[in-house]
Amino acid sequence: MPRLAGKVAIVTGGAGGIGAATAHELAREGAAVAVVDIDEAKANDVADEIRATGARAIGLGGDLADEDAAKSVVQSTAKEFGRIDVLHNNAALTASDFLSRDTTVSEMPIDVWQRSMEVNLGSQLLMCKYAVPEMRRGGSGSIVNMSSGAALSGDRTRLAYGVSKAGVHALTMYVATSEGKQGIRANTIVPGLILTDAVRAHLSDNILDGLGRATLTPYVGQPHDVAELVAFLASEQSRYITGQMIAIDGGMSAHVSMNTGD
Ligand SMILES: NC(=O)c1ccc[n+]([C@@H]2O[C@H](COP(=O)([O-])OP(=O)(O)OC[C@H]3O[C@@H](n4cnc5c(N)ncnc54)[C@H](O)[C@@H]3O)[C@@H](O)[C@H]2O)c1
Repeated sequence: MPRLAGKVAIVTGGAGGIGAATAHELAREGAAVAVVDIDEAKANDVADEIRATGARAIGLGGDLADEDAAKSVVQSTAKEFGRIDVLHNNAALTASDFLSRDTTVSEMPIDVWQRSMEVNLGSQLLMCKYAVPEMRRGGSGSIVNMSSGAALSGDRTRLAYGVSKAGVHALTMYVATSEGKQGIRANTIVPGLILTDAVRAHLSDNILDGLGRATLTPYVGQPHDVAELVAFLASEQSRYITGQMIAIDGGMSAHVSMNTGD
């Protein structure tokens, strides 16, 4: 029996990269999946691919920084599949043109700051706000929020991204705390370098090489590495894990280069 048989999952930012890999993995594990993205056409493509494997999936569009859109995504999923068991809050602003404007404290354009908070953090709040009552009705649930290693320490640029992701850690702990006795768990995944198209587009080869050297494993992470962790956190196998930050970074956060420079 697949470990997510009978479960219903929502994956935000599911049009590509880690989200698409996760939507496929949850479906392979038996879940019916709502693939949600601001890019509705690509979300529909991923849902089509999943249905072609014989699993159940729908594609939904929406800017999840908007409360009505988040509410509508949850309602449409519950209407289509009858319940919601798993929420993977994966959507975030990763486009190069946006990130290139996300700079330092003295240069930060306020629109970049606000949009980062609304999308990277606010969408996770809104999705939890509407999914949690559905999970309570079903008697259990697992929420898997996406952060980043950028939230664990300072950097010379991308202040808004790092701060918005740091907020995800607190959101997760508060949701885990208020909903734990209702059978709802919440955890944060903290990825290091995961080779997606978005990362290839906004990081230079030089930086990618450096990150590869800072990774302790002989290889760097792929989207399916994260997808398998989400499936574990979504399943009953992780029933005693809640409120946690779980790094998946090939050990990048476990060392510092004081002597060798890499
Ligand atoms: N790839 C990495 O190395 C890495 C590292 C750390 C954290 N992450 C996090 O993993 C997640 C996935 O990243 P990815 O590399 O697969 O990038 P990606 O660009 O493929 O995924 C992000 C998705 O979010 C969608 N999105 C953006 N704004 C949205 C909105 N307002 N409403 C709905 N959808 C929206 C995008 O269209 C995109 O499909 C992100 O949360 C990212 O911050 C990635």
